[in-house]
Order: sequence, then C-alpha cells, then structure tokens
Amino acid sequence: MISLVLGVETSCDETAAAIIKEGKHVLSNIVASQIDLHKEYGGVVPELASRNHIEKIIPVIDEALNTANVELSDVEGIAVTNGPGLIGSLLVGLSTAKAISFGLGIPFIGVDHLEAHISAVHLERDVSFPFLGLIVSGGHTSLYLVNGYTDFKLLGRTRDDAAGEAFDKAAKLLGLSYPGGVEIDRVAKKGNRQSIKFPRPFKSPQSFDFSFSGIKTSLVYYLRKYPNPQADQIADICASYQEAIVETLVDKSLNAAKLNNLKTTVISGGVACNSRLRELATEKFNQEGISLYIPSLEYCTDNAAMIGALGYFKLKRDEKSELNLNPYSTTRPRYIRGKGLVLENKPV
Ligand code: KG4
Ligand code: ZN
Repeated sequence: MISLVLGVETSCDETAAAIIKEGKHVLSNIVASQIDLHKEYGGVVPELASRNHIEKIIPVIDEALNTANVELSDVEGIAVTNGPGLIGSLLVGLSTAKAISFGLGIPFIGVDHLEAHISAVHLERDVSFPFLGLIVSGGHTSLYLVNGYTDFKLLGRTRDDAAGEAFDKAAKLLGLSYPGGVEIDRVAKKGNRQSIKFPRPFKSPQSFDFSFSGIKTSLVYYLRKYPNPQADQIADICASYQEAIVETLVDKSLNAAKLNNLKTTVISGGVACNSRLRELATEKFNQEGISLYIPSLEYCTDNAAMIGALGYFKLKRDEKSELNLNPYSTTRPRYIRGKGLVLENKPV
C-alpha cells in the first residue's frame, strides 16, 4: 500500500513540490513563486513562466525531499497537475513526473488542478462527504458536489471571467500592482464597501453559474465617468467592488448548499485568501448552520501539497496514468442527459 507521495505543480506561475504521507500529512510543501518575474508585465507571460519552471523544478523537488527528510527512492508514487493551466508550464511538471516515475519504476497520476484545490481541505481536517466545494481562483470559479475523495460533480461555473480575473483586471484599471486580488484586499480595508453599487449578477437561485464580466464592465464605466480617482476614492472603489464579488460568491454557494441539502461547504483557491470573503462567508454560513471550511492561506493558493493529497487518494484506488498522458489547458463541460454537466479533460 502506497504511503509517501511526491506532489508536483507547475500549472501557472508557481513551481511547487511536496511530500505527502497518506494523503493528509504534509512532510514538506515548497513553492517557488514567479511573481517578481511577471510583475512588470502586470500578468503572467506564458513563455517566461515555462522557462522559469525548467530552471526551478529540480531544485524545488530536491528541497521538498530534503525538508521532508526522505530520499527520492523512498517515494512510492507521484501526483502531478496535468490541467487546466498553461500548456508550456504544465509540460515541465508533467515531463519531470513521468521521468521520475519511469526511472524509479513507481506509478504516477495526473490530477486536475481544480479538484486538487478542493482536496487541500484534507490536509488540515477530516470532512465528511458529501459536501459543496467552491473553487475561486485566477482562472476558475466553479461549484462542485463532492461525494468522495475522488468523486467530484460539477454543478456550475463562471460563464465568462473568473473571480480572481475580475480582481486582477480591476486592479490594473485602478493602477494597483500585481497580483491584483491581494492589492484590492489590502486597499479595500480603508474604504467604504457601501459607497458604490456594483451589480450582483446571476441572482437566480436556480442557476449555479457565475458571471463576473458585468461587474468589471461597470467599473470601466464608473472610471470613465469619474476618471483619476484619489487614494481615498480608490479605497472606496476597491471596497465596493470587492463586496460585489464576495457577496455573489457567498450567496451563490450558500444557495447551492441549501438546494443540494449539503451540511458542509469548502471554499478554496487563491481568492479564498480574500479577508472579506473569509469573514462574510463565515458569518452567513454560521447563520444557516452549515459548516464552512476554508484552508489556511498556504493551501488556498497554488501548492503541490493539494496535488499530493488528491493523487494519493487516486493511487490508493489503483488509478494510474500512462506515460503518454497529455496536459489540457481548459476543462470543457458537456451536458449529458441524466448526468448533468460532465467535464471533459481534453488534451490539446
Ligand atoms: O489559485 P491561485 O493561486 O492560482 C490559480 O489557480 O489561478 O489563484 C490566484 C488568484 C489571482 O487572481 C489572485 O489575484 C487571487 O487569486 N488572490 C486574491 C487574493 N489572494 C490571491 N484575490 C482576492 N483577495 C486576495 N487576498
Ligand atoms: Zn490554482
């Protein structure tokens, strides 16, 4: 029976490796961030990201092994993100994982980055199934019904921008630095969240989908009407804009939990670091008597511990990937009668 898993994550701008024991115990969790590399461009430059992963991947894996105090030969399985993400970036982690798997003669498994974000919860607590999972990251905003460690059913997702994208684009419009979500969270603390009324899209309780492009567009119009805002006005804009996104996320997920009769909800992904989201979600879920778990900040943002966790549970079920496994850039949902939305992880 497998115990020690090496997790590898290179889907975007973090090179990460972790050693996980039995899917729950983090022996090491190393993340090399490329934020400084991409800062001057105001967003991730895919070509630079891939090249940087190539430089970092082996040192990061070495550090994960050293910190965990284990030898490479002690590792019994490898879990690696194979999508969604930037193809050039994904290929670095995937090829490295395949090479180690082949060299050591141990199994490897490709895992979905979004499902892994949800699995981050297992690193810190025991959660009983089924539960609702909300993933809020830079590229995705999706609701899942989670029936088991490896059983995820998509309930809804954003039809346009992701919540993190809405934060990042707004920060750019306001002249704030990268990554935008972190900056808006910081600046919003000084502002009044009731000062400007930004739209709350897709209020229909029947839909589990999201849409954030309208909020962003209304900010564009607002700035055309009131150009060159001063620092205190920027704080008010950030606070009000953040409130519109956060309220939408909380209300939609609360509604989804209630309609699906779920007593537990997990929120994860980079945007789950947002202080107002953590505060409002805790308040509203408490009021409804639904348990809410949001992982610690280090497990909400991109990391390889969550990849190792999900990979462990898949390997334990004897799921394995073949050496010809391809990465995929986006997850495409397809409606199948009787099954609802089903994700197709298509290779590119
Ligand atoms: O999960 P993640 O680290 O990478 C992806 O898989 O996309 O999420 C990154 C996203 C970025 O859009 C970033 O601006 C956002 O998470 N983010 C935040 C905060 N911290 C990170 N958004 C709002 N408030 C924060 N405190
Ligand atoms: Zn992520």
